Amino acid sequence: SPRPFVYAGSRLECSGADLSELAAQFGTPLYVYSGDAIAERARMLQQEFAGVLHTICYAVKANSSLAVMRMLGELGCGFDIVSGGELERVRRAAPEALGRVVFSGVGKQAWEMDAALDAGILLFNVESEAELEVLAERAQALGKIARIALRVNPDVFAETHPYISTGLREHKFGIAIERAREVYQRAVRMQGIEPAGVSVHIGSQIRSVEPFAEAVRRVRSLVEDLRGDGMDIRYVDAGGGFGIEYGKAEFDPAARVAEYARALREVLDGLNAHLLLEPGRFLVAQAGALLTRVLYTKQNGKKHFVITDAAMNDLIRPALYQAHHEIVPVVKDERAVQVADIVGPVCESGDFFARDRETQELRQGDLVVLLDAGAYGMSLASHYNTRVRPAEVLVEQGRARLIRRRETLDDLLAAELI
Ligand code: LLP
Repeated sequence: SPRPFVYAGSRLECSGADLSELAAQFGTPLYVYSGDAIAERARMLQQEFAGVLHTICYAVKANSSLAVMRMLGELGCGFDIVSGGELERVRRAAPEALGRVVFSGVGKQAWEMDAALDAGILLFNVESEAELEVLAERAQALGKIARIALRVNPDVFAETHPYISTGLREHKFGIAIERAREVYQRAVRMQGIEPAGVSVHIGSQIRSVEPFAEAVRRVRSLVEDLRGDGMDIRYVDAGGGFGIEYGKAEFDPAARVAEYARALREVLDGLNAHLLLEPGRFLVAQAGALLTRVLYTKQNGKKHFVITDAAMNDLIRPALYQAHHEIVPVVKDERAVQVADIVGPVCESGDFFARDRETQELRQGDLVVLLDAGAYGMSLASHYNTRVRPAEVLVEQGRARLIRRRETLDDLLAAELI
């Protein structure tokens, strides 16, 4: 199974830890991650790319937990950050990896650039000429050199949800690839700026390899042009976006990564570049789940509702992207099958995890798990409805430890002034 959540008899476990016990010990809603599964995915990527000089820069936004970041840092990963806040997380969780950080995002601010220059990060993925000018100014002010890659927009279409597709000209990301060479020409003359790479990211949850290969093919040709112009372009940042399977369909992550690696290696063959990858979801999504308890069940007309103690503020993917998450009971038994909407307590009709979902009959007090919630789950959680966010637990070799305590209402209100 691509997921570390499996039944031991009738009881669901995460890498050997019993989920009923975790609920009893830490309460619900609770994010549970398997450190073993995260490490397995990281090693899978590293092995498949072993033949090429590469660095895996984990996309912090997918799951920003300090404990998860520390684990990945110890496995030799770098990080893809998009804010000064995420940089601070790297400082605290994996300071030894600061030299393996790439900084993406269309709206970097001067203070964030200063902090990143000061930390000596590997590469700025610059997304506009205006940003390039500010970066040059900051680098000069601090007496530093900013290594940059332009994030180019290759105009490659990749099938995914429109909110997470990014590689088309109409999107706000990057610089059109046809214009890139001219911008590099400007960049190379700027004091404080050193063009060192080309980067691309075409979107997220992309399940076929061809769009990645096509994007990197276009990047390769640009790298060759730039080298011809005399620039020392060493890095190819192929971005993140490698997808997983959320439903019940067969999914063999090792085979899929092998295919992805083969395609990229082929496109980059002989280029002699250092490949950077920015995977988020692939590393952490399936390693995590959201554990929640049924508060109530009810029936309105013909429709059955199961109301859980987790809500859209804890996991917004179904509400925001109509995302599908498998929902399974923590204790399986012989009850009848039911069809119900599984919803949270938040006062919005959009607060649902599943509509007309078939599960075993669920009763008040039952525990259920929303699978594949390790990426863009907790990191997108909010306080909407003045709800504290879930606690988080990391399981390694059957041992669970709290990596984020449950918030208190005092935490939640601490910054407010009347
Ligand atoms: N690099 C860049 C520049 C990105 O913008 C992203 C994700 C990644 C890497 C990592 O992509 P991944 O490997 O995780 O697909 N909240 C949405 C996903 C948003 C993705 C944003 N950018 C979701 O829950 O599906």
